[in-house]
Order: sequence, then structure tokens, then C-alpha cells
Amino acid sequence: MANERKKRILFVDDEKMFLVSVERILRHQMNVWQIDYAERAAEALAALEESDYDVLVTDINMPAMTGFELLEELRKQPRLQDLPVIVLTGNSQDDLKRRALELGATDLLSKPVHPEDLIARLRSALRTKDYQDQIKAYNRSLEDMVKERTAALEASRREIIWRLAKAGEYRDEDTGNHVVRVGCYCRSIAEKLNMPDHFVDAIFLAGPLHDIGKIGIPDRILLKPARLTDEERNIMEGHCAIGAKILSDIPLGLQHYNIWRESNQKACAFSDKNEFLEMAVGIAQAHHEKWDGSGYPQKLGGEDIPLEARIVALADVYDALISKRPYKKAFDEKTVMEIIRAEVSGHFDPTVYEAFLACLDDIRAVRDGLSDEEIRNCP
Ligand SMILES: [Fe+2]
Repeated sequence: MANERKKRILFVDDEKMFLVSVERILRHQMNVWQIDYAERAAEALAALEESDYDVLVTDINMPAMTGFELLEELRKQPRLQDLPVIVLTGNSQDDLKRRALELGATDLLSKPVHPEDLIARLRSALRTKDYQDQIKAYNRSLEDMVKERTAALEASRREIIWRLAKAGEYRDEDTGNHVVRVGCYCRSIAEKLNMPDHFVDAIFLAGPLHDIGKIGIPDRILLKPARLTDEERNIMEGHCAIGAKILSDIPLGLQHYNIWRESNQKACAFSDKNEFLEMAVGIAQAHHEKWDGSGYPQKLGGEDIPLEARIVALADVYDALISKRPYKKAFDEKTVMEIIRAEVSGHFDPTVYEAFLACLDDIRAVRDGLSDEEIRNCP
């Protein structure tokens, strides 16, 4: 093809006359091959590191760095370790030939070089390089495809989680964009606590699922406009256990799916351990626990409450207080901060509170950017 680049071949030999003879032998190939020469191995190594060559032809005995040392050096470098290398040896040097092959030489060529032999060996080495390049390009395209598919799967996983959280919220009162804001607040607080990225990412998605268990609470209680009786409150508090169960039980349909896959000897699609779901279960179960042990459902206290649930507890209460709800007006920020401050070490973990204060500007930006009024005013 007219635009195809010339194949690049590098010869290294300290015998100038040999290089002159090679130039003469290969003069008819110059339209498709670019031949370069080096008289020292170090010079050849520098050229190989700098430019893309397709084949190296090297002598063994050279001053300073030998052909074997050059070969060893190439095989250490990821970019050059597969480069086809033809080693020039004497006809009777069987031990050197063996050593060259052990060190990764692609082919051997005896000196004095027969012109037809040289051209045939070079063509063979260039074919090897072509196959290698094709395999590498194919592998790169496979890797790109896997990355694309993984990104698409991750995007759909996130979207399904968000939609599940929104579905749970529809069941509740008209709380607008509450779960979205809670996810964002949780992310900011977790970042301020210097939690690792996987934690920050997980709480951003798992935080909004904290009240998913409310879908299991009867309307007459969930939507009751009056004060709940003790019995009704007990049922209402059951939303923590219901949420944890929804998120921890393997749904019956999936069990059947897994049995089907196993019976068909296919890889099981669902692993037993899912760190994201484990976090979501902990949050659903414990987001109403209080630092002083007076919360529900298990009356856990202090660090017995999972950190993620302690973060959600503060984010959830802040948003509930600062937002307008059907049964209450929105409190101003000063009042909200006073209420929360009064509950530090009671309801809230003091360390989480400090992180919350440290990222208050981010939290305000989310509160204003994702306010329910903003959402409602969208065309
Ligand atoms: Fe809740």
C-alpha cells in the first residue's frame, strides 16, 4: 500500500565492512525497507529506545556491550521485549547459537552472510513482527471493548440504584429530591472524613436507599396525618428491618437464575459478597440509631453503629429540618444548626458532626442546587 510505512530494520556490527556489504545486498529492498546501521550496541539500544523498529540484526562480539548483553537488555524492556532479533554467528559456533536462542533470539544467521539467506530471514522476522502487531492491536481493541461494556454496566447499575431510591421515596410523602440530596451530603461528609474512594462512592449510592423499607409500611401508618400510636410507631420503626431485608435477601428469582446457571455449568453471575449491598444493609438497618444508644431498632451506641449509618443519620436529619414538608415548614439554617448542635454526642457522632461543619459550603450548594423548589420549577 502506498501509505504504509517502510519496515525499519537496524543492523549493529562493529565491522564497518560488513555493514557496507549489507547495504549492497539490500539496495533493491530500499523502497519497502528502511535500513539503519550502528557500530556499537549502546548506540543501537539508544536508537531502539527512541524509534520504532521492526527487526534488529546484531553481531555478538562487539566492544563494550556484546550482542548478548544487548539482547538481555531488550528483553527486560516491555516495549522491546518482543522485538524480533536475528543474531549473527559463525558457522561453527554452536554454543553461541544455543546461548543466543536461550536469551530470546528470534533467528540465527551465519557469517559470511548469503544474500538470499539474509533477505529470507528478514522477511520471516518481519512477518513475525506483523503477527505480533496484529495480536497487540486486537488485544487493545478487546480491552477497549471490555472497558466500554464495564462502564455501560456500571452506569446502568448506578441508574437502577437511583431509580430504586426514588421509587421508595414516591411511596413516602412528597419529599421531592430528598434522597438525592442525602446521597450528595453523605459523599461530602465521607470525603471530609478522608474515607477511601470506594467508601465515598458506595455511600453516595447507598445513602439514598436508607428509607427503602418504608415501601413495606401500610399507607394508613406511613401517610397518617396525625400522631402515631405506640403500636403504629412500632410498625413504622420496622422500616429499618424491612429495608435491611430487602437489600440482604437474595430475591427468589435470582436464586432460580443462579441454579439455572450452575446446572448449565455457566459462571455464576451473582457473588455472595457485595460490599455495596453490605453497606446499604447497614445503613437501612442502623440509620435511626443514636450515638448515646437511645435510638432504634437495636439501641446501638457509639462506634457499634456503622460509620456509614452515622453519616446518613446526620445528613437525613439536616435535610428533613431544612426542607419544607407537608407537615412542617422549612426551618432556617440558624435554627437547624442549633437543633443539630444540641444533639451532638446525643443523636450524632461528634466526629461526623465536625466533618459536616467542615463541608457545610458543599452541603449548602447541594441543598440550593437540588432544592425541591428548583425541581418543581423545572419546565
Ligand atoms: Fe428512616
